[in-house]
Amino acid sequence: MEILANYPLKKLNSFGMDVSAHRFARFSSADELQALLRHRREQGEAALPLLVLGGGSNLLFRENFSGWVLKNEIGGVEELHEDADFVYVRAGAGENWHGFVQYCIGRGWGGLENLSLIPGNVGASPMQNIGAYGVEIKDLFWDLRALHIESGRVETFTVGDCHFGYRESVFKTKLRNQYVILDVTYCLRKKPVLHTSYGAIHQELEAAGIGQPTIRDVADAVIRIRQSKLPDPAVIGNAGSFFKNPTVPLAQFNSLQQQHPGIVGYPLPGDKVKLAAGWLIEAAGWKGYRKGDAGVHPRQALVLVNYGHATGADIFDLSEQIVQSIRSAFNVELEREVNII
Ligand code: EPU
Repeated sequence: MEILANYPLKKLNSFGMDVSAHRFARFSSADELQALLRHRREQGEAALPLLVLGGGSNLLFRENFSGWVLKNEIGGVEELHEDADFVYVRAGAGENWHGFVQYCIGRGWGGLENLSLIPGNVGASPMQNIGAYGVEIKDLFWDLRALHIESGRVETFTVGDCHFGYRESVFKTKLRNQYVILDVTYCLRKKPVLHTSYGAIHQELEAAGIGQPTIRDVADAVIRIRQSKLPDPAVIGNAGSFFKNPTVPLAQFNSLQQQHPGIVGYPLPGDKVKLAAGWLIEAAGWKGYRKGDAGVHPRQALVLVNYGHATGADIFDLSEQIVQSIRSAFNVELEREVNII
C-alpha cells in the first residue's frame, strides 16, 4: 500500500478538475482499507477530511483536497445463490457499473438493463439510488456490506436500512461520511420483466423494428439514447445531471402550467409534481450557454460541462446563476445532485 502526497486527481474525476489530494492511496479489500485508516490515525491526521473515491463521476472539486483521498478498488463479481426466479449477485464496490450491468445481461439476468452506461462504480449505486428510464437500483437491491470508519466494524445493510429515495440514501443523509461501502448484492431476475414504457425506449425499439425485445435489446436502446443526448465524460468533462428534478405542490404546477403550457411534470403521490429541471433550464435560455470553458450542454440542459480548463469555481458559479435564474423565473428551488467538494 502506497500513500502518496500531493497526488493529482484530474484523471480521477469525470469533470476533469485539475486538483490534487494532500494524501492519496488505493485499497482493494476491507483489510487494506482498515490498515490505511489506522495509518491515518497513527500519523495524527484522523481529523483531516476523508474522501472515498469511486468512479469520480458525481462530484465537483472546487479546490485542492486538503485531506485523504482513498480510492476504492474492491473488485470481483460473485453469484451467491439462486432460486427458481432470482439470482443473487455480489459485486465489489470498485467494479465499473456499466461493466457489471453488461456482465449480468450476458448471463441473462434481468433488471439492470435500463441502467446501462451510467458512469461510475458499483459502490456509488446505492449511495444515491441511481436511476434511469423508469428503474432505480432500490428495485433490485438485496443488501450491501459497509465498513464503519470509526469502529472498523463491517456491517450489513438491507433495503430497509438504506432509506432509499430519489437520488438519496441514508449514506447521503444521516450516515453521511460514516461508512465505506465494500460490496453490493443485487437480486436479479432469471425470467426478465422489461420496463419499456418510458417514452424514449419505446420509440427507440420501434425505430429499430424490435417487437419482442430481450434485455440486451433494451440495454442497447438505452445505450443509444444516452449516447445521443449525454456527453461522454472521456471527451467532455461532466458529472451527468447536475441538478435533481425538483418537486412542487400540484397547485404550483397548475399555475406554472397556465403560464408555460409546455412545462414537463410527472405526478407524484400526495398532490405533488416532479418537474423536469432540464425543461426549466432550457426555458430560461441556458441550454448551450458557454462562458470560458464552463457551459450548459447543448443537448441536455441538466448537464453542466467543462470544455477543457474550467475550474470547479467556474462550474459552481454557473450552477449558482442557474439556481437564481430558475428561482426568479419560476419560483422553483433547484437542488444540486452532484457532490460539491
Ligand atoms: N428536457 C428539456 N430540455 C432539456 C432536457 C430535458 O425540455 O434540455 C425535457 C425532456 O424533453 C423531457 C424531460 O425534460 O420531457 C426529461 O428529460 P430526460 O428524459 O432527458 O430526463 P431527465 O429528467 O432530464 C433524468 C435523470 C437522468 C436519467 C434520465 C433518464 C435526474 C436528475 N436525471 O434526467 O439521470 O438518465 O432521467 O431516465 O433525475 C443522472 O442522474 O446523472 C442522470 C443522467
